[in-house]
Parts: sequence; C-alpha cells; structure tokens
Amino acid sequence: MSSILLPEFCLVLLIGASGSGKTTFAGKHFKPTEIVSSDWARGRVADDENSLEATPDAFELVQTLIEIRMRRRMLTVVDATNVRAEDRAKLTAIAKRWDALCAAIVIDPGEDICLDRNKLRPDRQFGPHVVRNQRSALRKGLGGLKREGFREIHQLMSRAAIDDAVITRQK
Ligand code: GTP
Repeated sequence: MSSILLPEFCLVLLIGASGSGKTTFAGKHFKPTEIVSSDWARGRVADDENSLEATPDAFELVQTLIEIRMRRRMLTVVDATNVRAEDRAKLTAIAKRWDALCAAIVIDPGEDICLDRNKLRPDRQFGPHVVRNQRSALRKGLGGLKREGFREIHQLMSRAAIDDAVITRQK
C-alpha cells in the first residue's frame, strides 16, 4: 500500500497520460473544490472540455486559480497530464512564490490500460501515439522531479498501487 502524507497546504501535481485515471484518482482523494483541472478550464473558456485550441487560455485560468489558492494557503491539486518538465515548471514556480511544498503523484497503470480506457471514451478518440508520447515524456522526467523542486514524489505504477493508495493530511 502506498501511503502518501501531505501537508495541509501544498500544491499537488498529478502526472499521468490520458486514460491513466487522474480525474478518477483526484475525485476519490480530494475535495472537488481542491481540484483544478485542465479539462474543466477548457470547458470554462471554450464551452468544450476537449478544445485543444483553447489550451493556452485554459492554462491561464488554471495558473490564475493556483495563484489565488496559493495566496490563500489552500491545498490545490492540478488534474492535467503534467508530463512535460516545462509545463510543470510554470506551476511549481507559482507554488514556490508562496512557499508551498510541491508534491508529485505519478499515475501510470501502463500503456494498455490507458489505451483500452480511451477506446471507450467518445471524446478521446485520438491515435495511440498520443498516450505513447505522453508516457515516454513522463518516464523521461521521473528522474528529474526532485531537481524540479518536488519535495514529495509518489509513483503509483500499477493499477493495484493506484487503487490501494491512501492519502493522509498532516495536521
Ligand atoms: P484524461 O482526462 O484523458 O487525461 O484522463 P484521466 O487520466 O483523467 O483519466 P480518467 O480518470 O478520466 O479515467 C479515464 C477512464 O478510465 C474513465 O472512463 C474512467 O472511468 C476509467 N477509470 C479511471 N480509473 C479507473 C479505475 O481505477 N478502474 C477502472 N475500472 N476504470 C477507471
């Protein structure tokens, strides 16, 4: 069982390919109001959670929300793929400005599971290369997470590890 201990105030980045189960994991372990999701933000700025064209504006909203929640010292979870170091850097920079601890929770049940799940999702009918590229970027970045400033790094690399994870808040 993976036991994840988080301080009451921190920025948590979920890191995982499409179909890995980030949104499901976030919903299981965090309050809806603690979760800032890129899909949700795309919906807010474009009326379409899948609008790729809206991604820059959606991330502006994601970053603004993170900034405000960090200022208010509210634990915040970012539900986005976050597989590229340069994308993570923009988010961790905000946390560092507000002296928030950064935690990374890597979610990877494996390529086959991500692909199988996406096959069942009408809004995720992109080619398998998308998940492959995301997982490859994710794996490339794992070794550098500490250097990026993550103080808590948890890797849930199987369906069992993801299912069994327990998150506790430090009092
Ligand atoms: P993106 O939004 O595309 O990045 O995906 P995601 O990583 O947020 O995955 P999400 O949680 O949306 O799950 C994708 C699909 O897999 C959904 O249809 C979920 O119902 C399903 N799913 C996620 N986690 C689990 C799980 O632990 N078990 C099972 N059986 N299905 C899951």
